[in-house]
Parts: sequence; structure tokens; C-alpha cells
Amino acid sequence: MQQLGLESEEQYYARLRGEASRIVEAELRNLLNLVTVTETCFFRDASQFQLFRERIMPTLVAARSASGEERKAIRIWSAGCSSGEEAYSIAITLADMGLYRAHPHAMLEIVGTDLNSDALEKARRGAYSGRAVRNVEGRLLDVYFAKEGRNFQLNEDVRNRVRFEFGNITQTPMPSTGLQDVIFCKNVAIYFRSEVTEKLVRGLRDTLAPGGYLLLGHAESLWQMPEGFELVEHERAFCYRKPMKVQGAGFQGSGFQSSAFRSSRYATAAPEPGTFDDAADTSARYDLCLAAFRAGDWKSAETGLTALISSCPTFVPAHLLLGGVYTHRARYDEAMSEAESVLQLTDLEPRAHLLLGMVAARRQRTEDALQSLRRALYLDDTLALAHFWLGNLYRDRGDFARARHEYENVVGDWERRTFSLTEEFASDLTGEQLVEFCRDSLKRLHANQANG
Ligand SMILES: C[S@@+](CC[C@H](N)C(=O)[O-])C[C@H]1O[C@@H](n2cnc3c(N)ncnc32)[C@H](O)[C@@H]1O
Repeated sequence: MQQLGLESEEQYYARLRGEASRIVEAELRNLLNLVTVTETCFFRDASQFQLFRERIMPTLVAARSASGEERKAIRIWSAGCSSGEEAYSIAITLADMGLYRAHPHAMLEIVGTDLNSDALEKARRGAYSGRAVRNVEGRLLDVYFAKEGRNFQLNEDVRNRVRFEFGNITQTPMPSTGLQDVIFCKNVAIYFRSEVTEKLVRGLRDTLAPGGYLLLGHAESLWQMPEGFELVEHERAFCYRKPMKVQGAGFQGSGFQSSAFRSSRYATAAPEPGTFDDAADTSARYDLCLAAFRAGDWKSAETGLTALISSCPTFVPAHLLLGGVYTHRARYDEAMSEAESVLQLTDLEPRAHLLLGMVAARRQRTEDALQSLRRALYLDDTLALAHFWLGNLYRDRGDFARARHEYENVVGDWERRTFSLTEEFASDLTGEQLVEFCRDSLKRLHANQANG
């Protein structure tokens, strides 16, 4: 406003919305450059780059050669690329895999898009600070960068492998090149309202070629719209894949959600036609079971849920609640079988992974527990019980830094009001008690550390 000589926000807003579209566009771009968060670095999240290198690229290259389409381009899009570190990390990975040598130049296309034009300009320059390259292995730093004063200049060969375009992914979620085989859209949607994220994810899904991969940041997940993707896991990293063949109508069913779950994050599979009276009936029956569960009347809850599941086997909340009932009663095999029934309907249901993780933890199957709990958090990182159990497992292994981190997540989510307890697996524990327990554990861990 100072630069434009304007005195009130209203004037500035009028300017942004004004008629002279060119000026407006320029001012809007200035504003976007000021308000967007461009924090990034090379090889941010090493485990996902490992997944990209060891799983995604070999699968895509093999698929091209199996179908005799070796010359058809593999397209990779860094959506919300900021100053280019992510897109260039992709190019460095491909170069280091020897793919540019092994395949014709045109086969590998990388495009980075962003709506911060300053960041894009920096990307095109390819000069980076020591902080930006802090995760680049020494060997790669020597091969692909030249030290120039305090900066690291990316070599021209890598720079030429990436094209940068201005673009708003919420409006035209697609670079000009067409369908993409891999989309990195990391740490962009965290700033969006949920309805914008939903629209974005639909756009990204449509932009992916069949069999294409979507990589999101740690704190992002597709809970709003899990249909149309499979979860892919490699070592400790995850991403999503669009199936080769699009499945039929998947997990719609919001009309079947109980009132207790209407605002929650459950993916609910649609019931099979004709298996029960109507959605309202299912919902009402579920609510009765939930009330019995809350009152500690396990027997009635179990009877009601078993009957409900037999008339509507695809009703996810009933399986989860029954899993909770079984867990309370230490009937672990049955609890796991409920979780597995859910995963057969939708393997992106975080609470089913949480249930498997909790049961495995109770049975001292630490590796299984860690894996399921991490999956749960990848899909929904507000699940307090998953952080809590992970914290306990890490603490018991003597990995105090990770344990602290998990407990801090519980306390932080509580304070930010982004905490979700997952009532059906919480036994009699309330949110307050869980947070208190985590605060206590943190104190004890600090005291242990202080005492050496
Ligand atoms: C925090 S950076 C993430 C950069 C990189 N993807 C990473 O994970 O390191 C977020 C970037 O998303 C961009 N961004 C935010 N909203 C966008 C939109 N609607 N369309 C395109 N880019 C957007 C910002 O300008 C910013 O550069």
C-alpha cells in the first residue's frame, strides 16, 4: 500500500479487483510474491526421493519398455515448485540413475510450476545458498554444482532438464505438457481450505496418467477424497498411485455416515443395494451401538454391530467400532480381522491402520506396530492415539528423540485444537488424560536427559 500510495485496505482491495486487468494482474502477482510461503530445499524428505528412485522410476521405465513405448515421454511435474529445488532434485536423481544417458533426451520431461514469480525467477537462475543444498550428498554436490563465492551454482546440463511455468494449481491444475506420470505436490495444499484441497486433488487425479504417481508432503493426505488412488509404500515412505484401470464408483456414501461421524474423516464405502432398509436406518442403528459402547455395555454394542455389519458389510464405522469393542476385551484376532475388512474396502482408512498398530503394540509386535502407526499418521497426522503409541514404542526402544517428538505432537495438536482422539479405540481414556500422560512422559524424558 505504501508503494502504491494507498491509504486503506479497501483502496488496495479495490485496486486488486479493478477493471484495468493488466495492472490488476501485476499487482496480484506482487501480492502473491509477498504472501506465499516458499520454504524448500534440495531433497526435502530423503525417503520420498528414495521411493521415487528405487520404485517409481524403475516401474515407469519398465512399463514403457514392456509396452514398446520407449520413446514416449515420462512426464514429471513439480507442482508448487517454489525456487526449483524440488524439480532440480528430480533431475539430479534421473541423471544420477543414468537415465539421461540410457534414454533419448525427449523421454524425460520435468516441469515446475508456481504462482510466485520471484521464486520462479530464482529457479531459472539456479544459484543456491549453502542452506538450500544442505541435504545434497557430497558426491552429488561435487558433480552437479560449482561453488561460486558463497553460492552453489547448478550445472547447466541439469538446469536445461527442467522447464518452469507460472501457474495456479487451484485454477488450471495442469502444466501445458499434458497428462503426467508423476506429480510432486508437496507442502502446497497445507495452506488451502479443505474444499480447495478437495478440488485440487480431483484436478491432480485427472492430470495423472493411468498408473501415475502422486507424492504429497508429510502433513498432507487425501482423507477428503481417497477414491481413485492406491497407497504405495516403499521402506518408510508413501505415495499414491492412480490405478491403470479406473474402478467403478468407489467410496461415496456420505449419506450413510452416522451423525457421530458426519463431520469426521471417515471414508465410508457405499452399501450394496438392497442389503438394508435405508441409510437413515443404518445411521440410527449405528448410533445405538455407539451409545451402548459409550456406556460400557460391550455386549449390546457387539451384538448390535455384528447385526449391522451382516446387513451392511461395507459400512466402515461399524467395523471400526466393533474393532474397538474387541480391543477393549483383548480379543485381538477379531479386532484385527475388523481392521482388515476395512482395508479391503479402502486401504486409505487411517483408523484401520491405527487399530492394527495398537493391537500389534499390545502384542509386543513392535515392527508391525511401528509400520501400521506410521501409515495411519501418513494418512491423518492428527490421530493422537497413533502419536501416543508411537511415542511409547520409541521410548521403550530407547529412541528418546523420536519419542519426544511424538508426545510433543499430541500436546501441540491439543493446544492448536487439531487433536483427534478416535473415541472407539481410546478405552476409557479422555483427551485430557492422554495429553496429561504425554506431558508427564515429556517431563520424564527431559529429566532423564538432564541426568545423563
Ligand atoms: C512451501 S513451498 C513448497 C515447495 C516444494 N514443493 C517443497 O515441498 O519443498 C509452497 C509453494 O507452493 C506455492 N503455491 C501456493 N499456492 C499455490 C497455487 N495455488 N498454485 C501454485 N503454487 C502455489 C507457493 O508459491 C510456494 O512456492
